[in-house]
Amino acid sequence: MRTLKDRGFIHPTASEMTPRQVYEDRRGLLKAFAGGAALAALPAGAALAQGAKPGKGAPLAGTKSSVPGALTMDKPTAYADITSYNNFYEFGTDKSDPARYAGTLKPRPWTVAVEGEVKKPGTFDLDALMKLAPMEDRIYRLRCVEGWSMVVPWVGFSLAELVKRVEPTGNAKYVQFLTLADRAQMPGLRSGVLDWPYSEGLRLDEAMHPLAMLAFGVYGEVLPNQNGAPVRLVVPWKYGFKSAKSIVKIRFVDKQPKTSWELAAPQEYGFYSNVNPQVDHPRWSQATERRIGEDGLFAKKRPTPMFNGYEPQVGQLYAGMDLRKFF
Ligand code: MTE
Repeated sequence: MRTLKDRGFIHPTASEMTPRQVYEDRRGLLKAFAGGAALAALPAGAALAQGAKPGKGAPLAGTKSSVPGALTMDKPTAYADITSYNNFYEFGTDKSDPARYAGTLKPRPWTVAVEGEVKKPGTFDLDALMKLAPMEDRIYRLRCVEGWSMVVPWVGFSLAELVKRVEPTGNAKYVQFLTLADRAQMPGLRSGVLDWPYSEGLRLDEAMHPLAMLAFGVYGEVLPNQNGAPVRLVVPWKYGFKSAKSIVKIRFVDKQPKTSWELAAPQEYGFYSNVNPQVDHPRWSQATERRIGEDGLFAKKRPTPMFNGYEPQVGQLYAGMDLRKFF
């Protein structure tokens, strides 16, 4: 039987752990964190099994998530790919633009305002926000509407932790996410490619689903700017564009909010944007996907599963809905 580790899964399960493995993992860790100060924190971040600290970010420790579906067995995409092949139009529309230009983004100090239909509105300082709940390691598939996918080891916690804290009123039906739009930090704002600030939204029950996540880190480190520092949304059963980066405002509202992509091309982008291999985007088939890192000459495309493979967890949210109409 293949072990989880064989499949590229980086957290050894308790039953797999032998003292020798523990020792070897420790040695890797020590090397990785030169000096070993971070040993106590022991981020379960996937970097460790690869034997090297992947980036330059500060460590951000999480513990293995127990949320059902939060730890895909798919092999995580390399850190170098996750942080160099990005969509973050505030820094340009080329995949390489965010890694190149997002150095001007200042992820601290940072606040996130929560307003609208909640009993406890307020502005969270980033540090306070990060302390709302224990940080968890989760490994999610990310499917972009353009036809590629990745597997990303995020660090963060369920968005529901924040939702519960601010106590939505009975009028709150949707949640809108607005992200930073500062021309001084974001050269891409000069282009009119999207309506700024970048706006995304979820139905309240989607926002409450435990798989919907606020992410603060990747691979056991704080998010690099190009991945949406210091805090972003991750909704693994929806196309990647729902996962708004560098969030500054969260609004609870009674009507379905307009999203930037809907405003740009309503016939191409619906509000729901659930991954659905049966409903093609006008320009890209959604039936199959190319996994980043597997793109050799003979690499086969993978079939895209309904809800990006999260149907057992989220299918019920859409019971009885016509998903062709509500795409
Ligand atoms: N958030 C903002 N603020 N601006 C963007 O352009 N692009 C989205 C989403 N979040 C985007 C954004 C798209 S199209 C995708 S596929 C994902 O971010 C990509 O996330 P990644 O670069 O971390 O893989």
